[in-house]
Amino acid sequence: MRFVLQLAIFISCGGLLLPSLHAAPWNDLTTDELEATLTQKFAAGEYSPKGADSCLMCHRRSEKVMAIFDGVHGQGNSNQSPMAGLQCEACHGPQGNHNKGGKEPMISFGPDSKLSASAQNSVCQGCHNDAQQMSWHSSTHNLEEVACSDCHQVHSAKDPVMDKLTVNDTCSSCHSKEKADMNKRSSHPLKWDQMTCVDCHAPHGSMSESALTKPTVNDTCYSCHAEKRGPFLWEHAPVTEDCVTCHNPHGSVNNDLLKHRAPQLCQQCHANDGHASRVVPEPGSDAFGGGKSCLNCHSQIHGSNHPSGSLLQR
Ligand code: HEC
Ligand code: HEC
Ligand code: HEC
Ligand code: HEC
Ligand code: HEC
Ligand code: HEC
Ligand code: HEC
Ligand code: HEC
Ligand code: HEC
Ligand code: HEC
Repeated sequence: MRFVLQLAIFISCGGLLLPSLHAAPWNDLTTDELEATLTQKFAAGEYSPKGADSCLMCHRRSEKVMAIFDGVHGQGNSNQSPMAGLQCEACHGPQGNHNKGGKEPMISFGPDSKLSASAQNSVCQGCHNDAQQMSWHSSTHNLEEVACSDCHQVHSAKDPVMDKLTVNDTCSSCHSKEKADMNKRSSHPLKWDQMTCVDCHAPHGSMSESALTKPTVNDTCYSCHAEKRGPFLWEHAPVTEDCVTCHNPHGSVNNDLLKHRAPQLCQQCHANDGHASRVVPEPGSDAFGGGKSCLNCHSQIHGSNHPSGSLLQR
């Protein structure tokens, strides 16, 4: 039944076809020929009676292929496991005549695959369609044709994207802007892998903007910076609205992940005409431009609980 479903999804996905660098003989096929062949193979359903053994007759010399047996998909200890069922063909589709010289195509994955991301993904989703995957369909990654196998390595003892110490590398291999930001002077401890992209982002998508793990930006920040939640007697409107008005969560050349330095940061919203003339800086110092600028006096920028803190000064 699952394969009937996969086939249906497969046929309906014309999708983006990436140019292939790979030497497999069917790379000469046109898209239509490739899809027609794979469709026929599914319809015929000619699975190899010997499963993995028949594949390994030709593919056992590849260390990468063999590494599947060191990973979760190579273990036969769960009845959901590929190895407990169709084995290699649970992912790569029925062998058909592929073993006759390797000329007939198999379903292939990864950046070199000619198949659309959604066609590749439907294979994985045949087994992985639980609650964790609920938001995948509407996620930006799905809409941008990112494949499961762009992030996940299944022919591997340990999938690097599942490891806290290497997940940032996978994400930043595509996200160069965030990679540059996280290496700036002020940043979350991402470059030391003490924090990861998935502390704030759900990799399979979520109901919130930017695939955040929490419903809003502020809720995401409060999950670690609880003291900023308040409630405060005197609140500062932009703080309760959206932390990223002033901060870049990925990093900045300014202190404290600030998008701009004071006074410019503040002057986006507060005109300082009139105010400056009423403040008398100490002789020899420039309270506005020097030191922490506006924060020299308005130090409780996230809100104040002092009875006379309405100007965020205490
Ligand atoms: C008679 C030898 C032979 C057998 C048996 C065989 N293959 Fe292949 N396979 C090949 C050849 C040749 C190629 C094309 C050259 C290459 O990419 O290595 C290939 C390519 C592939 C590819 C594509 C690799 C890529 O980079 O696109 C996959 C996937 C694959 N085979 C899976 C399987 C599976 C699964 C089985 C068992 C059901 C199997 N093969 C059985 C010879 C074989
Ligand atoms: C859980 C799904 C799954 C199973 C089971 C699976 N593969 Fe793969 N295979 C993949 C994916 C995904 C890739 C792309 C590379 C990667 O993710 O590491 C791949 C890549 C390959 C390649 C291309 C390798 C290369 O050098 O680029 C071959 C050949 C292959 N698989 C053969 C097999 C054989 C033989 C088996 C059974 C022993 C098997 N696969 C079992 C998903 C699977
Ligand atoms: C035939 C069923 C089947 C297919 C097809 C399948 N998987 Fe799995 N997958 C499993 C099982 C079983 C497990 C281990 C049990 C579990 O944790 O759910 C697993 C676990 C995983 C995990 C967790 C790994 C870990 O280290 O804990 C990831 C990630 C994953 N699969 C990705 C994929 C991707 C990507 C594909 C498509 C290329 C795929 N799977 C295809 C059955 C499948
Ligand atoms: C943008 C990268 C990325 C993509 C694309 C992606 N994943 Fe994941 N996946 C992850 C990360 C990171 C984790 C670990 C989650 C965590 O630590 O919270 C994960 C975890 C998993 C797990 C383990 C159990 C779970 O749900 O937490 C499975 C299974 C899985 N992914 C399957 C898939 C499938 C199937 C697809 C394609 C439909 C896919 N993934 C696409 C990054 C990705
Ligand atoms: C294969 C490339 C690739 C990988 C790997 C990848 N992404 Fe993406 N991601 C994209 C593309 C393409 C987009 C859409 C364009 C953009 O916003 O850059 C995107 C968008 C996003 C967005 C914006 C989502 C939205 O709804 O606005 C977030 C957040 C994100 N990725 C996080 C991650 C995280 C976290 C990881 C690692 C677990 C990751 N990405 C791995 C390609 C990738
Ligand atoms: C501390 C939480 C946090 C961490 C850690 C984090 N992000 Fe984000 N990210 C956010 C927030 C919040 C937004 C929304 C920003 C906005 O609305 O301006 C965002 C937005 C994004 C976007 C969309 C950018 C756009 O212009 O639409 C991408 C892509 C992204 N993050 C990738 C990453 C990657 C990759 C990592 C890991 C290197 C990462 N993020 C780590 C909080 C975080
Ligand atoms: C998973 C936990 C976590 C989340 C979520 C989180 N932070 Fe942080 N934040 C940290 C840690 C850890 C530090 C570093 C503390 C240190 O170095 O002493 C930090 C530091 C900071 C700093 C000071 C940076 C510096 O240069 O000293 C700012 C500003 C900040 N976070 C803002 C935010 C904002 C805005 C959000 C929401 C978009 C957010 N954080 C979400 C954990 C988190
Ligand atoms: C109006 C601009 C603005 C907004 C909005 C804002 N901050 Fe800040 N934040 C600052 C400034 C300025 C500093 C530097 C404070 C200093 O130098 O005393 C700072 C510093 C920080 C720091 C590091 C120093 C400390 O006080 O712990 C954290 C963490 C932080 N902000 C988190 C947040 C969070 C979480 C939010 C959203 C709830 C937020 N900020 C909203 C301006 C802002
Ligand atoms: C995104 C716009 C924005 C930014 C940036 C911003 N503020 Fe505000 N600020 C406001 C708003 C809106 C109020 C509430 C005004 C009101 O209630 O009349 C406010 C109130 C204040 C107040 C309380 C005085 C009053 O009229 O209630 C002070 C003091 C203040 N801000 C200082 C700062 C400083 C210092 C910075 C820079 C670190 C800053 N603000 C950055 C929008 C901003
Ligand atoms: C030397 C201390 C000091 C510095 C530096 C300072 N302020 Fe003030 N600020 C005050 C005092 C005292 C008041 C209340 C008296 C008044 O209204 O002049 C005030 C009032 C305000 C108010 C309330 C509305 C108003 O104009 O009365 C805002 C908004 C404000 N400051 C923003 C800023 C911004 C933005 C900066 C940086 C460009 C800044 N302040 C720098 C001391 C300072």
